[in-house]
Amino acid sequence: MQPQLPTFARNFWQEARDYVFITFALIIYATGLTCFLLPYEITTGGFTGVASIIYYITHFEVQNTYLLINIIFLVAAVIELGWKFCIKTIYAVLMLSFILWAMQRIIEMQPGVEPGHLPKVLSDRTLSCIIGGIFEGVALAMCFLNNGSTGGTDIIAAIVNKYKNLSLGNVILICDIIVISSSYFVFRDEADSLQRVILGYITLSISSVTLDYVMNRRRQSVQFMIFSRNYSKIADAINATGRGVTVIDGTGWYTKTERKVLVCLAKRSESINIFRMIKSIDPYAFMSMGNVLGVYGEGFDKIKAKSNSDKRTIVFATNNAHKLEEVRQILGDQFEVRSLDDIGCHRDIPETGSTFRENALQKAQFVKTYYGFDCFADDSGLECDALGGAPGVLSARYADGKGHDNEANMRKLLDALNGNENRKADFRTVIAFVTDDSVHYFEGTVDGKILAERRGEGGFGYDPLFLPDGYDQTFAEMSAEQKNGISHRAQAVAKFAAFLTKKN
Ligand code: IMP
Repeated sequence: MQPQLPTFARNFWQEARDYVFITFALIIYATGLTCFLLPYEITTGGFTGVASIIYYITHFEVQNTYLLINIIFLVAAVIELGWKFCIKTIYAVLMLSFILWAMQRIIEMQPGVEPGHLPKVLSDRTLSCIIGGIFEGVALAMCFLNNGSTGGTDIIAAIVNKYKNLSLGNVILICDIIVISSSYFVFRDEADSLQRVILGYITLSISSVTLDYVMNRRRQSVQFMIFSRNYSKIADAINATGRGVTVIDGTGWYTKTERKVLVCLAKRSESINIFRMIKSIDPYAFMSMGNVLGVYGEGFDKIKAKSNSDKRTIVFATNNAHKLEEVRQILGDQFEVRSLDDIGCHRDIPETGSTFRENALQKAQFVKTYYGFDCFADDSGLECDALGGAPGVLSARYADGKGHDNEANMRKLLDALNGNENRKADFRTVIAFVTDDSVHYFEGTVDGKILAERRGEGGFGYDPLFLPDGYDQTFAEMSAEQKNGISHRAQAVAKFAAFLTKKN
C-alpha cells in the first residue's frame, strides 16, 4: 500500500479535481452546442434541447431558458433528494449557463456576426451534427466520470428513480425522445422538418455511443500474467504502486521446474508503467496482457448488483463474539454485520490512542484503509472519579499492561480505591464509524459506583464490582438482556443504529 493522505485531505483534493474536470467538460459541451448544433437548428435531448427549441422560435438565448427550467427542477430535487445530490448539479447548471452566455458574446464579437444569429462553422449540416454529438458525448462522460451531471433530465431521472423502478438511462432516453420529437412541430412548416428530427436522433445516438465509449475506455481494466525468475522484485515493485499481486505456483512443463506466476489486475492507464517496471527489473520476463470485461472490488468498480439479502454490509472491527452478538441483536437484520474474522483480517490492529475516541477511530480507519469496507469500532472502559478517570483506555490491561486478566484488574482497582469514600464511576463506550467520505462518533455512558466486594457471576471485566445508579444488582448479577438494556455499549449502538436506519 502506498502511504495515504488523511481522509479529509484526500476528500478535498478529490473534490477540487472533480470541479476542475467538470468545468472543462462544460466548456466542451458548450462548444459543441454553440458551434455545431445551434447554428443548424438541430435539436438534441435534455433541457438544452428544450432551450434550443425555444431559441429557434424566439431567439431567446439558450442559457436563460436552460437556467430557468433547471431552477424549477432543482428546487424539486433539493426537496426530494436533499442537498448532497444537488450541489454539483447546481454548480454545473450555473457554470454551463455562464459558459454558454460567454461563448455567444465572444462569437458575436467576431466581424460580420449578427447578435442572436450564430454563424455556421461547417457548411455541411450532417457533419456538424456528428461533431456536435461527439462533443456532447465526451463532455457528458467527463462529467459523469468526475461525479457530476449537467443537470437537466438527470434531475428528472433521479427523482423518478426514487419512486419507480425505472433505470436512469431509460428515463433520460424517454425524455430525450419526447424533446427531439417535439421539434418536428416547431419546424413542421419547413421543407426539412422531418430531416431535422432525424438529425436530432442521429446526434443523440452519436453522443450516447461516444459517452459509453469514453466511460468504458477510462474504466477499462487489464489483467497481467507475468512469468519471471525475478518475480519477487517485480511483485514488490507492483505492490509499491498500490496495486495488488497474487503469486501462483506453476510448473514449466518443458523444463519440469517450479515457476511462480504473477497475476495482477490494473487499469489500462497503469499498464505502460507496469511494462516499464518489469522491463527494468527483468528484460527477459515473459508476460501476457488481456482486456477484462470488468473488475470489481477494492481499487476498482463497486459491485452494483444488489445482493439477494439487499443488506448493507458493515464491518465491526472486533472478534469478540459477545460484542458481535450484542450489536447484531440491536442492529436487527437490516444490516449484515461482519467481524474481522469474516473479512479475513487477522492482523493486530494498533490501539495506541490516549482517548476512547482515538482508539475507536484508529481501529475503524485501519479496516477502511486496508480492506475497503465501511467499518465501525468501539472502545470502552471504566472511569473512576477518585482516580481521575483511570483505568480509562487502560481498562483491559490495567493490572499487567498486557490485558484481559479480569481478576487482576479488579484486585488492582479495589486496592486503588481502598479506604476512598468516593466510589463514583462510569462505563463509557465510543463508537467510530468510518465510511468513504465521513467519520461519525456515537457515545454511551452508565453512571454507577464501585462496590468494595465482587457480586455476581455473569458479565465480564469489572461487572462484579459495578453497581449502576438506580439498580440494586451489579452488572454481573443482571441477566444479559437486563444489562444489554442499559449498558453503555447498548446506548452507543442504539444511537449508531438510529443513525444507520435514518440514512439507509
Ligand atoms: P473494550 O474496549 O470494549 O474491549 O473494553 C476494554 C475493557 O474495558 C474491557 O476489557 C473491560 O475490562 C472493560 N469493560 C468495557 N465494557 C465493560 C462492561 O460492560 N463490563 C465490564 N467491563 C467492561
